[in-house]
Amino acid sequence: MILQYPQMSEMKSSSSNLPLSPRILIVGNAGQLGRELERIFAGVGPIIAVDRESVDLADADQTRALVQRAAPDLILNAAAYTAVDRAESEPELAHAINAQAPQVLAEEALQRNALFVHYSTDYVFDGAKSEPWVETDAPNPLNVYGASKLAGEQAVQKIGGKFLIFRTSWVYGPHGNNFLLTMLRLGRERDRLSIVDDQVGAPTTSIELARATHAIVIGILAGRFVAQPAWSGLYHMTCAGSVSWFGFAQAIFARAAELLGAKAPHLTSISTSDYPTPAARPRNSVLSNARLAAGFGVQLPSWRFALEEVMHSIRNESSK
Ligand SMILES: NC(=O)c1ccc[n+]([C@@H]2O[C@H](COP(=O)([O-])OP(=O)(O)OC[C@H]3O[C@@H](n4cnc5c(N)ncnc54)[C@H](OP(=O)(O)O)[C@@H]3O)[C@@H](O)[C@H]2O)c1
Repeated sequence: MILQYPQMSEMKSSSSNLPLSPRILIVGNAGQLGRELERIFAGVGPIIAVDRESVDLADADQTRALVQRAAPDLILNAAAYTAVDRAESEPELAHAINAQAPQVLAEEALQRNALFVHYSTDYVFDGAKSEPWVETDAPNPLNVYGASKLAGEQAVQKIGGKFLIFRTSWVYGPHGNNFLLTMLRLGRERDRLSIVDDQVGAPTTSIELARATHAIVIGILAGRFVAQPAWSGLYHMTCAGSVSWFGFAQAIFARAAELLGAKAPHLTSISTSDYPTPAARPRNSVLSNARLAAGFGVQLPSWRFALEEVMHSIRNESSK
């Protein structure tokens, strides 16, 4: 008798019906999160990673063709229109990238029975609540970016299938466009900085987001969680704790002085009304991560701990 063993890539996880070694499509691999996802998912399965040069997500036909060509079992969508203030004057483009593209990706994932992982934002909320926001709280975005991301979430949920939407906040890391790197640059250029102190949130690193996503997806592939579709859904995913932008800037400069020998500018705390921006922002952006912990046993570390890792990473890269 000849026993035939399936190839690893053909073996299915009992609970998710996904291959144990899935073909992975990472969309937006040049962004903060996409870069970390590409790094951490290496070895999980063959990866096709695309940036804006390979696909314009504002074009639905290109987006659909990309998935059909890549034939993935797992789609990680790290791409987004993230220019919050610019979105106020480019609402159609923001909607195309943040709502229409996830819809197309989710439709194609459903067609292929693939798992679709998508990210959204704390800016779907208006900030008026004093407690951390939970997934069942009613969204009420204050700006075009938040509205476009909410439309994306809703489209993905409507399509259904195997999907995970992770709402996160204040994303930063050692690369890309973010508050930490802007602070370090401004700190080199100026002696004094005024920073908003009445918007509170949870700074979350691209590294921790990628780690948590990886742990959850691996758990699903390994059949560690209850059968699909019970795990499909919307989850908040941020680092623990909370701080204002001013407090975050203080922490950044304190660590930058110690680890990078950077001079710390004098910081003045100001209110939102002292720093008008095209897009309004929520006062309280803090998200409760209880559903993520209950569903997957995953908890991201405190924002202070995560900051430490990013600062060390910047120091290591600058000393190369
Ligand atoms: N950044 C935050 O503070 C924050 C907060 C809450 C939630 N989130 C969410 O977290 C996720 C990851 O954010 P991130 O900070 O990693 O974003 P990011 O660094 O801005 O990266 C987004 C990527 O999407 C790409 N992209 C934009 N428009 C595109 C298009 N038309 N076609 C193809 N690619 C396009 C960008 O390419 P280019 O670089 O060429 O533009 C960029 O590489 C997003 O869903 C975002 O909405 C972010």
